[in-house]
Amino acid sequence: MAVEDTAEATLPGHGSGHDDGGPGDADYSQPVLPGRGASDYERYLRTDELLALQKPPAERAHRDELLFQTVHQSSELWLKLAWNEVEAAVEHLRARELAPALRLLRRASLCVQLITAQLDMLEQMSPWEYQEVRRVLGHGSGFDSPGFREARRVAPALAQELHAILRERGLDLVTLYVRGREHDELYQLAEALTEWDERLTTWRIRHYKVVARIIGDQVVGTQGTPVEVLGRLIHTSFYPELWEVRNKLTALAKRDDA
Ligand code: HEM
Repeated sequence: MAVEDTAEATLPGHGSGHDDGGPGDADYSQPVLPGRGASDYERYLRTDELLALQKPPAERAHRDELLFQTVHQSSELWLKLAWNEVEAAVEHLRARELAPALRLLRRASLCVQLITAQLDMLEQMSPWEYQEVRRVLGHGSGFDSPGFREARRVAPALAQELHAILRERGLDLVTLYVRGREHDELYQLAEALTEWDERLTTWRIRHYKVVARIIGDQVVGTQGTPVEVLGRLIHTSFYPELWEVRNKLTALAKRDDA
């Protein structure tokens, strides 16, 4: 037996070890889950289907289609997780359960951070060679991204709940921020919404730069949208009042100093 084999045989789930259910003589080499795939790993994760979702080499217009599809498809998965977490956070807020909502909002923002980081991978493509990929995209446009569309859809409900809680407690945003320590959880919630807003905008900024670097900033997209429109979207925000409050705090501090 090779050294690797010996090591593997001692790992849980390999060889004739013990599982959580205690000692037994189960054959761990055989899958127990239903579905296609040689192992439970492949069956549970449905890797056959997942890995068939990218064009095979013979169908690729350019080999970088694998890179392009990987970045897009994984972005859709992270966005799906993000908006599901936001939607669940809204339910917690409706039940006035702030702590679990905060936990899920942290995850959602982290998802957007991850897809922002992976935009770097697209800049590994040559702008000229990308034109070969672009030819096979049809009218495909990021405006039709289900993940981003859902992320936008779920955003307003968060603000609705924040404002409802503020009203119930007789607070406005300026007071919440000035007396943040007295209303710590609610203050954390306002900051979590700011974070969600900021992460989505940071994605937009980064995406805009990637687009400008690869196809240019004075061209139109595959669905006829001028890239300049993306540049303008950078200046929009989901919760303008959460940004405006900072102006008010600075003005208030100035007044106090005078
Ligand atoms: C080479 C890489 C990319 C290029 C050249 C590109 C290009 C564009 C262009 C030109 C637009 C404007 C709409 C149109 O298509 O006419 C757009 C929008 C968009 N793209 Fe991309 N894109 C790239 C990568 C990505 C990736 C990886 C995602 C991940 C989900 C994405 C998601 C989006 C979204 C969500 C929009 C709408 C933007 C918004 O609402 O602010 N794009 N993209």
